[in-house]
Amino acid sequence: MPRPKVGIVGAGNVGAACAFILQKRNVADVVMSDIVQGLPQGKALDMNQCRQVDHHSTRVTGTNEISDMRDCQVVVITAGVPRKPGMTREQLLDVNAGIIKDVCSKLLGTGAKPVIIVVTNPLDVMTYVALKITGFPRARVLGMAGMLDSNRYAHFIAERLQVSPRDISAMVLGSHGDTMVPLPRFTTVAGIPITELLPKEECDQLAIRARDGGIEIVNFLKTSAWLAPGSSIASMVEAILNDENRVMPCAAYLDGEYGLTDVVVGVPCKLGDGGIKEVMKLKLLPDELAALKKSAAVVKENCGLLKL
Ligand code: NAI
Ligand code: 2OP
Repeated sequence: MPRPKVGIVGAGNVGAACAFILQKRNVADVVMSDIVQGLPQGKALDMNQCRQVDHHSTRVTGTNEISDMRDCQVVVITAGVPRKPGMTREQLLDVNAGIIKDVCSKLLGTGAKPVIIVVTNPLDVMTYVALKITGFPRARVLGMAGMLDSNRYAHFIAERLQVSPRDISAMVLGSHGDTMVPLPRFTTVAGIPITELLPKEECDQLAIRARDGGIEIVNFLKTSAWLAPGSSIASMVEAILNDENRVMPCAAYLDGEYGLTDVVVGVPCKLGDGGIKEVMKLKLLPDELAALKKSAAVVKENCGLLKL
């Protein structure tokens, strides 16, 4: 049987980090593309020269042609512009929507029907654009943000409680933006909700820090994070390729779930062969549901600003 193959469009910080992590975890061969001549080729060569010391034979191929992804089972889109200090993700709307349209049209032109994981910001809107341009079923077009946001949330909780992040299960819903919805009631340490371990004010502060986790790094680095994003994407790719049925927060198109329709927003999903197998339904309290609906309304408003 041929080895599984993953395409990564955009060989910048996030795309290259993801390729490197997929390679190190020996998940699949990777085809990484970019519009910049030489960039994906040079980074791929560098990664492939780790293989002897790292004891694996997984290959990364650098290319400037999306047509080289025609036999990929999963394609990750990281092509786009990241934000600089002082910028919101929404300020990237027009320029990145143009890039997503271009990439998806080229992908369609190859005749490929992969599962697409969108990473480009503003994440929920860009995932919606990819869905509309490809016309793929909702199972096959999803966005990565919830995994990153819940990893950040887990990190801050682990630091506060001095427990291993491995024993934390963190749940973050909603849009990857200021209306993100961290859910302390569904965030547990070895099964114990953090609401039973910390006073409400501290739970609120941890939720705010998770929500602002992206900008905290932008302020240090003057560009967005790439290692935790790369690792989060790689886990989703693994869940899909290995048909793991992992339950992970993903940006998914909703068709009535949580009372929301025709919008992409972060919710827990069962991920396996073919992408999203099921949108999982949490029993939310009225204030939690209201926060999710508010978040979805912002995504809808931003989608409305684009001509699709
Ligand atoms: P970067 O600037 O390092 O890399 C982006 C790459 O995309 C560049 O190499 C650029 O040449 C390439 N590119 C632009 N147009 C292209 C096209 N039409 N076809 C192929 N490649 C193209 O940026 P970085 O840091 O890798 O971020 C990429 C995107 O991911 C940004 O929009 C950023 O905001 C987003 N992001 C999303 C996260 C999430 O949780 N969803 C987390 C971190 C970043
Ligand atoms: C992040 O959260 C900017 O979306 C990017 O790091």
